[in-house]
Parts: sequence; C-alpha cells; structure tokens
Amino acid sequence: MRHLLDIDDFSTEEIRALIQSAEDIIDHPDRYAHTCAGKKLATLFFEASTRTRLSFEAAMYELGGQVLGFSMATASSTVKGESCADTIRTVGCYADIIAMRHPLAGAPLVASRASTVPIINAGDGGHNHPTQTLADLLTIYREFGRLDGLTVGLCGDLKFGRTVHSLITAMSRYPGTRFVLISPAELQLPGYVRKDVLDRDGIPYTEVRTIEEAIDSLDILYMTRVQGERFADPAEYERLKDCYILDEKRLSQAREGLRVLHPLPRVNEISVGVDSDPRACYFKQVLNGKYIRMALILKLLAEAGQDDPRPQPALRYDLTCDNPVCITSSEQGIRHAFLKKGSVYRCVYCERSYHGTKPL
Ligand code: CP
Repeated sequence: MRHLLDIDDFSTEEIRALIQSAEDIIDHPDRYAHTCAGKKLATLFFEASTRTRLSFEAAMYELGGQVLGFSMATASSTVKGESCADTIRTVGCYADIIAMRHPLAGAPLVASRASTVPIINAGDGGHNHPTQTLADLLTIYREFGRLDGLTVGLCGDLKFGRTVHSLITAMSRYPGTRFVLISPAELQLPGYVRKDVLDRDGIPYTEVRTIEEAIDSLDILYMTRVQGERFADPAEYERLKDCYILDEKRLSQAREGLRVLHPLPRVNEISVGVDSDPRACYFKQVLNGKYIRMALILKLLAEAGQDDPRPQPALRYDLTCDNPVCITSSEQGIRHAFLKKGSVYRCVYCERSYHGTKPL
C-alpha cells in the first residue's frame, strides 16, 4: 500500500506530477468536482491544527467526497487508553483514506502498518510534515517557475520545526539548491537532517545567527515559529521565542525577487506590516496547500491497491530507542527497529541515533 509518511516516500518524478496535477485542478476545478464521489477521508488530529486539517477537509469536499474524524485527541477514545494502531484499524472500517497528525514522532509509521487504507502524515511531533512541504514546493514552483538553482534561507526553530526537516529533504534533490540556516545555537538543525541529507548528498549550506547576515543573498526566506509546545523547559521557550522578527526594515535589505514563506501559524516572527509586501507568500501557501492536498488524495486513492515498490531495508531489532517523544515510548506492542545510516543506527520511527552500549 502506498502511504505518504515522509517526503522521501515520493520520487522527484512523482512530486513533479503532483505539482502538475495541482496546477490542473487550479485551472479546471469543475473537472474535479465529483472525482471522489462515494469516497470518505478521515482526519484524525491528535494535535491542534487549523490549516492542515481544514485544507484536507476542504480538499475532499471540493473533490465531491465526504469527511469524518476528530480534531483533538480528547474527543477520541485515545483518552480511554486506546492505542494509535487500534484507532487506525477502526477508522479503516469507515474511511477510504486517513490524514493524521500526532504529537509523537513515528506515529504515522505505526499507523501505516495497522492500516487497510492509505495513511497521510499531517505532522508527527517535531519530525516530519510532508504535505506542508508539498504546499511549499507548489508555492515555490508557481513563484519561480522552477525548483532548482535557489538559495533558501531557513530561519527560526530548525530543531523542532518539522516543516523545515521535510523541506530540506525535498529541496536537496534539486540541482543548485543552497541553504542558509539561520538559528540560535539551541535551535539548530537535528543531526539526522544535517548528516543524512546535507552532508551525505554534499548540499552546500552555511549557518549564521542573524537575518541581516543572509537576507540580501536569498531567493527564499522560510520563516518558522519557535515551537513552544516541544520545549521541555518553558523558561527556555520564553528566552528564545522572539529570537527572530522579520519586519519592514529588515525586509528592505532583501532582493526584489525574494519570496517570504512561512508554514503558519505565525506568532511574532513576521510583523503584520510585511503582509502587504508583494514578496510575502505565506497566504498563497495556505491556498496552495488545499490544491496540492486535492492532488495527493487523488493520487493515493488511485494507487490504494498497489504495493510500495521500494525494497525493504535490513533493520536491527536488538536496539532500544530512548527518545521520550518517539511513538515507541508510549505505544505498546511496537518492536523497536533501527536502520544503519552512514556510521550510526537511527530509530526508524523518530530517526534518533542509538546512544546505548550495545556493540554497533
Ligand atoms: N502549517 C500547519 O501545519 O498549520 P496548522 O498547524 O494550522 O495545521
């Protein structure tokens, strides 16, 4: 069964086809108005959302399908102790496709193993957010007419910002991409993205501490919110939460061709005064998110009967993940599994490297 758990689940050719499909939907919405008649999408959001959940729901309605689900874990039998796997097995009896968001990394992978219908990862903890990346890629493509040869500044919470992890993974495929990582030391990019994507593929990147050091060299400035909900220490969040603010004065140092993206929600990191600048694209991203999710629903429903064509990698099952925000920390019956990447073993659910004492 094809699922979308990680942006790497789709080839570059599949992403190109999704963008083409979304553009056709934008140009000819009437042709798609009944393409999902008789089909149901379940939106299972164990964590808060405005855009992702509602855009999935709007997408399914605009395809002529129907929607069911819940918008918070407390409205489901999760509060009675039901596992993620059992929830998915149950909802697969009612729906043809499931979009889910969960606070723990790897929950969509667990769901995909229990599911009889395609699973879409709508955000798993601080790990991945592949459908936001599809919205970002459609926006970049529509603004620049290409995805290659772009210098992308990523600013803010690069540690917990799951949209950043998925976007770097996707943009690294396109020739000529360069990244400028703008973050405080405490919120730097996790090792699994830095080592397994940037270093492995020799993608050029620099790291700076201020927007001013980079803004005049960028094609894209991707601002992110400091993810307060992922901090163990609230005082640390208070100290870092306003570390970057893009205002009109800072934007005046940028090229005319710059495009400012943000997955939203924003808190303080982009001044409202920037919204009227023609370089601000974050509300275009919101709209594009609906169209690319329409294309995604159509693709996964069309391929629901197909097996994943990729070979299954060899895993190690004798190591244990110690990440408290990995799904293995709370869901019973999951076999810990590690994949060798370079010289380290990474948990297949959350990608944390193994830190224990077993010989590797
Ligand atoms: N971009 C995004 O994931 O927004 P929501 O949290 O509102 O879904």
